[in-house]
Amino acid sequence: MTTERKSWQRCDACGAEFDERDASPRCRECGGLLAIVHTPPVGTPTELRARFGTADNRHSSGVWRFGEIVLPTATATAVTHPEGNTPLLSRPAISAWADIDSLLLKHEGHNPTGSFKDRGMTVGVTQAARIGARAVACASTGNTSASLASYAAQAGLPALVFVPEGQIAIGKLTQSLAYGARTLLVPGDFDACLRLVEEASDALGIYLLNSINPFRLEGQKTIVLEMLMQLDWTVPDWVVFPAGNLGNTSAFGKALAEAHAWGLISRLPRLAAIQAEGASPFARAFARGFDHLEPMAAETVATAIKIGAPASYERGVRAIRATDGVVCSVTDAEILEAKAVIDRAGVGCEPASAATVAGVRKLREQGVIRPGDQVVGVLTGHVLKDSGVLKLMHQEMEPPPAWANRPIRITPDIDAVRRVLDASADGK
Ligand code: F0G
Repeated sequence: MTTERKSWQRCDACGAEFDERDASPRCRECGGLLAIVHTPPVGTPTELRARFGTADNRHSSGVWRFGEIVLPTATATAVTHPEGNTPLLSRPAISAWADIDSLLLKHEGHNPTGSFKDRGMTVGVTQAARIGARAVACASTGNTSASLASYAAQAGLPALVFVPEGQIAIGKLTQSLAYGARTLLVPGDFDACLRLVEEASDALGIYLLNSINPFRLEGQKTIVLEMLMQLDWTVPDWVVFPAGNLGNTSAFGKALAEAHAWGLISRLPRLAAIQAEGASPFARAFARGFDHLEPMAAETVATAIKIGAPASYERGVRAIRATDGVVCSVTDAEILEAKAVIDRAGVGCEPASAATVAGVRKLREQGVIRPGDQVVGVLTGHVLKDSGVLKLMHQEMEPPPAWANRPIRITPDIDAVRRVLDASADGK
């Protein structure tokens, strides 16, 4: 290894090492998943923290401010929107519903394409461009594809996205069309799309940008790093987030392990990964002591996490174990109720993100999270991503749930408006 070399790829399974610019999506020796390894950053923890906080923030990116522990050799050539720098919100109505004193919500829906995927994609597409990829591709439940389409457009790279036909939210599908990606509607579920894109990228030499791509995870680490920075590097008791393909679970585990190893934090928070009950192979495996993964046919209103065979299972298990974490599942009814509370607080998020808050409430009920614990929940996507579910919740569900906010048809006269106003003032 030369002295300038700051990062390389290593197989999680067999330990084989590969150059940082190797384009293979999996280990060339055994097919295992690859991780990026960095030589430790130079400086004391205090110096590092100061550098991140005041970093040469040329791109004003919440990802590249951490460039020296994300992808040091590419910070100068990053394809950046910018992204990140998302808020940490405190909303009493949401904390009260979840029955917790201190709940902060890191809202990743504030990213440029409306989800946390932009943090991984800025790094993944930067890598694709610097190794001269001819095209990029991903399978997606909608957010990864929207993000890939946007960043590929910026980099001038052709993008192919594979989505399960009829199973992704309209806002996400139309985003990928708008940004110009070739959008392939595949008959089948997300898991089928992932198998197909892996095969296609292998056969056709297209650079694969699903979350098994280790560079994506380097970017997604910054959700946790930025959250810690916003907390002045104090450590919450819990970090709670929705889990599907387990890319975030893996990225959060890696971010925390590195931050701990490099002295940025003195202890680890516990991770709590939340799944939808109809798409909960990870939660079921956790309940069985992580004996093995049993893939399932997935079904949930939260289409972003409608995944039955998570690709990063082993990494996910390691992250949960290393942080003394937990995995639980919530029903679609619980997800929609949590979403109504989050939306009504003026925050808003897509259904999968609401699983976070539904999960906090469930873990409180179970006594796993204690009332005084400090909890940070991650909201992964924007409220407008899934207007189909909003229509269902507010205009279509019968009988209308308590939260349904039906639009009111009026005659075009002032009395009609007055009646609505008076009824609102009466709390009706
Ligand atoms: N929340 C949202 C809004 C998502 O879009 C996803 C994943 C997750 C949570 C789960 O994250 O897969 O890292 O465990 N969406 C992927 C996609 C699968 O294709 O957009 P994960």
